[in-house]
This record gives sequence, C-alpha cells and structure tokens, in this order.
Amino acid sequence: MKKITIAIDGFSSCGKSTMAKALAKKLGYVYIDTGAMYRAVTLFALRHQLFNADGTVKEKELKTLMPDIHIRFQLDPSTGNPRTFLNGECVEKEIRGMEVSQHVSPIAAIPFVREALVAQQQTMGKEKGIVMDGRDIGTTVFPDAELKIFVTASAQVRAQRRYDELKAKGMPADFDDILKNVQERDYIDTHREVSPLKKADDAVELDNSKLTIAEQDQWLYKQYLSHL
Ligand code: C5P
Repeated sequence: MKKITIAIDGFSSCGKSTMAKALAKKLGYVYIDTGAMYRAVTLFALRHQLFNADGTVKEKELKTLMPDIHIRFQLDPSTGNPRTFLNGECVEKEIRGMEVSQHVSPIAAIPFVREALVAQQQTMGKEKGIVMDGRDIGTTVFPDAELKIFVTASAQVRAQRRYDELKAKGMPADFDDILKNVQERDYIDTHREVSPLKKADDAVELDNSKLTIAEQDQWLYKQYLSHL
C-alpha cells in the first residue's frame, strides 16, 4: 500500500504523541516525537550550564557545542515504545521531567537549534511511511505531508493529563506548576519568530478535550483512510 507522511501538530500535552504512536504502530510506520529532540538539546544545555540565571540561553556557547549533540531513537525491546538517546545514553525519563519542561521553549525558539533538528527530521522522513508529531511539522518540516492534523484541548485538560502521566510514572508533579508551564509554553511556542506553532491551512483540526483515547484513535484512523 502507498506510504504517506502524517504530520501531527498542536499544543503541549494535548495527546499528540499518544495518538501518533498508536497510528504508527497500526500502520507499521516509523514514529518520531520531535518534542523529545528539543527536550534532549535542553537536557544537554542544562547539564553544560548553558542557561543564564534569568532563564535565557547562552546561545554562543550552545552553538559551539551543537555538533557534539547526537540524538537518536531506539525501540524499547520489552514495550515496543521509542526511547530517546542523547550521545548514547537513554534519557527518556529525564527529558520528561519538570526541569526540562521549564527550559525547553527558549531552546526551541533559537533559529540554529531549529535548523539543525528540522534537517534531521526531514532526513528521517524522506522515505515516507512516517508519523511525526510536534509544532511545525505540517508548516515547516513536511509542508507537503499528505495528512496534517492540528490538535487542541483546553489548558486545564492538558495540565491534568500531564499531571496524571507524571504521577503514573512515579515522578514529582504539582498541578498548578504544570498548568503554569503549559500556558507559558503555549505563549512562547505561538509567539516565537521562527516556525511559531500554528495550524497549517490544509490541516484538519481536532479538539480532543472530551474524547477518550480510543475515540481519538478511531477518528485519526478514519482521517488516514480518507487521505489515502
Ligand atoms: O511535544 P513536547 O511538549 O514534548 O515538546 C516540548 C517543547 O519542544 C515544546 O513546548 C516546544 O517548545 C518545542 N517543540 C518545538 N517544535 C517541535 C516540537 C517541540 O518547538 N516540532
């Protein structure tokens, strides 16, 4: 069957990864979580003290070190889920914590960071048969993707989902901090100069605030069938 490119964009914590991962599994496609790549660069920057006290990034130093940052994904043999590796180390758990979430949006707003990661993403998807989720996949990474989805949900619903997810993983979580972080990231992601988060003109919008995961998966599969 013809392989296509599927771009899933939307706000933080709106369940993009869950639906993208499930669809990729069902279709036998590659799944790429581009947020994990921005998170891995952020973790690298935190470990190398590349943030100023006011939360801005030491861009010159980061630019020099960018060639030393190698990110790849590997499937966990026991769960089949992708795990993120930074310079050979599995950082899947660490990149999901609050410290990385609180620093990632300024990193993702830096043009040379986006340029480097977008180039890698385009290489990963050049054979098609890929489901990629992020903020700029349908607008910048794969503007010619056959199927583009733009996912939204209220900030409250998204913060609750993130809270439940962290708790389920046994990680520290405070609902008010998470809500504030979700709102701050929405603001920075939609207002940055390079590739701001916005719906591509030809994307199909989904507000999944009231959908179960099963309903959302069904909706997405129908979209896939209708775009073949
Ligand atoms: O998807 P996730 O919430 O893990 O993404 C973390 C952050 O990475 C986002 O808040 C955004 O700042 C950035 N990001 C981006 N472009 C992408 C994916 C993520 O700017 N394609």
